[in-house]
Amino acid sequence: MTPRSTPALAATGSVSRSIQLFRAFRVEQSDPDFFYSLLARDSIREVQRWCPLTGASVLDVGGGPGYFADAFTSAGARYAGVDPDAGELTARGGVAGNTMRASGLCLPFADGAFDVTYSSNVLEHVPDPEGMVAEMVRVTRPGGTVVVSWTPWLSPWGGHETSPWHYLGGVRAADRYAVRHGRRPKNDFGRSLFACSAGRMLRWVRRAEEEGHLDLVDMLPRYHPAWARWVVHVPGLREVVSWNVMLVVRPR
Ligand SMILES: C[S@@+](CC[C@H](N)C(=O)[O-])C[C@H]1O[C@@H](n2cnc3c(N)ncnc32)[C@H](O)[C@@H]1O
Repeated sequence: MTPRSTPALAATGSVSRSIQLFRAFRVEQSDPDFFYSLLARDSIREVQRWCPLTGASVLDVGGGPGYFADAFTSAGARYAGVDPDAGELTARGGVAGNTMRASGLCLPFADGAFDVTYSSNVLEHVPDPEGMVAEMVRVTRPGGTVVVSWTPWLSPWGGHETSPWHYLGGVRAADRYAVRHGRRPKNDFGRSLFACSAGRMLRWVRRAEEEGHLDLVDMLPRYHPAWARWVVHVPGLREVVSWNVMLVVRPR
């Protein structure tokens, strides 16, 4: 296949940006380079709304094959990545620089080691999402920035490749997939995919805020245009309509 040219990013917060991301998502399977490069560039631009990246030390938790490594480095950040899965780390051939095998549930770094910690689409793949965010907060310096985004379970894409059958139950959706495809789904409920709601993570953040560990800076539906961001503040509705939720917190 001829590689697509790298498009300019549509304006942040615009409807065009949401359409651009949605169109790219439709070719995720057939042209992952195009989709993930675009997503990474868009995401890094969004992160810069909360913190400057030039010269900042950044830890990317669950960075996978390195698209985010390229985008953070291009933005001037000093990048480090962790991912426990050797297959993901090498999916583009080699392993991105300054990346190591480790889990977000037990980060091999000192307290306050990074200016920024970032995680995209990983939280729903760990059995203890609160524990992973607590680890990210721990390794971020006071006043630094933690950005974490994930697909809530009740999102139309909550079941990943088993969607929309996850609405009838995660195990049932995964079993149905196994029967139809002759193999378990990569995102297998209870093994590599877990139900993580926006409300659950917001409750944890609020508690940590009350206990004096961090401040909540922002919470938004990651791919929506600016005018539609209010949906993330409506309990119940946000679980379905946000599609993907982004939380930004600042350790004290
Ligand atoms: C859907 S991919 C997301 C990759 C990339 N962050 C992105 O947004 O395109 C999920 C990633 O989470 C990683 N992952 C799974 N369990 C993890 C854990 N305990 N700690 C850190 N990463 C994990 C997987 O190996 C995989 O690379």
